[in-house]
Amino acid sequence: MKILVVGSGGREHAIIWKLSQSEKKPELYCAPGNGGISQLATCVPIKAMDKEGICNFALENKIDMVMVAPDDPLSIGMVDYLEEHGVRAFGPYQAAAKIEASKVFSKSLMKKYGIPTAEYETFSDSKSALEYIRRDAQTFPAVIKADGLALGKGVIIAANLEEAEAAIIDMMENSKFGASGSNVVIEEFMTGPEVTVLAFTDGKVLCPMPSSQDHKRAFDNDEGLNTGGMGAFSPSKNYTPDIAYTCMKTIFRPTIDALRSEGIKYKGVIYFGLMLTPSGPRVVEYNSRFGDPETQCILPRLETDLVDIFDAVIDERLEEIDIKWKKEAACCVVMASGGYPVSYKSGYPISGLEEAAAEGTIVFHAGTRIEDGKFCNSGGRVLGITAMGENVDEAAKNAYKGVVKISWQDMFYRKDIGKK
Ligand code: AMP
Ligand code: GLY
Repeated sequence: MKILVVGSGGREHAIIWKLSQSEKKPELYCAPGNGGISQLATCVPIKAMDKEGICNFALENKIDMVMVAPDDPLSIGMVDYLEEHGVRAFGPYQAAAKIEASKVFSKSLMKKYGIPTAEYETFSDSKSALEYIRRDAQTFPAVIKADGLALGKGVIIAANLEEAEAAIIDMMENSKFGASGSNVVIEEFMTGPEVTVLAFTDGKVLCPMPSSQDHKRAFDNDEGLNTGGMGAFSPSKNYTPDIAYTCMKTIFRPTIDALRSEGIKYKGVIYFGLMLTPSGPRVVEYNSRFGDPETQCILPRLETDLVDIFDAVIDERLEEIDIKWKKEAACCVVMASGGYPVSYKSGYPISGLEEAAAEGTIVFHAGTRIEDGKFCNSGGRVLGITAMGENVDEAAKNAYKGVVKISWQDMFYRKDIGKK
């Protein structure tokens, strides 16, 4: 069997790593992939957004399944397009991927179906958004979100009126996030620990994966700019069985049912970004895919064959699969290029990869390429070093045993992953 994974980051490496362990011994392809991925899969130079290119490659090479991992190809309907051309594909359809691609859509879905989330208003012109934020009753901080995809950067937590006005003007008048910011959502600021729960769903059955937590800021103690994620661990100690039960009853099931009531079948992985507020768990955001770096600490805990799960989701028979997870915890530490997330230099040779693997860690590549037979950094986030352990503390200690073996010029990483 031949499987093509679309994407090129640490998440895609983790997916391919897990698929490579399948009893079905799939022949793996990745478009476009990266240096590390090329050790497990044939990388093909087709861009992740190139629907036609991906589809033609799949048809010409008799690919049995295309797994679309990133949000942007999902949001332009890559899965719909592949299916229309007779290619089996894993991932939500365009209508379902809107749950991530449009905050206006996801917020109104939650409001209509009583799914707990922050109170909000939506605006399509800056004048009414500014009027609203200037009202006497407005409290700060206020949360201002661009409607569309903005690489996780379209959310501004405004501490006061000045910051809020600047954010609205940047998004709506200066198009700082392009078309993504032509509509904005202004919402209530929530407090509490954040937890991620990913789930497999075939549109009817919903199987949550173990909980995880991401570290979004660049530096230790949550300082510095927001990034794509500097590390993650699983499980989260804040996510107790009671909370899991409440989430299933008030958020997870109702979300899939709400979509179905709207005539939208959701098949694939759904990402619930949750905040455990004093008044109970509430949704911060939905994503229509595996999270990154969360996936790099979730999939190493999966015992069940991932090919079987993907097949069952596509065929809408997920109830047949008993998905099993390892008891051990996992932790993933991201190693990044100096200057990330603003600007960084690439092309530096990376040393110590084999030594890190000899420590028992799994080295996932997010932004590497091979030059003269050596791995070099080629992106902002470069590697994700994952290890298992009896608990998160042990897993983190084990991950750092690998991290300290690796270096390249100007690299950095957080030293407090797993300490939340
Ligand atoms: P999002 O892209 O919607 O996940 O937002 C990015 C981050 O902003 C979240 O992970 C939270 O840390 C924070 N955030 C978003 N919405 C809220 C909110 N309503 N209250 C407090 N923090 C928020
Ligand atoms: N780790 C957050 C995301 O994947 O969007």
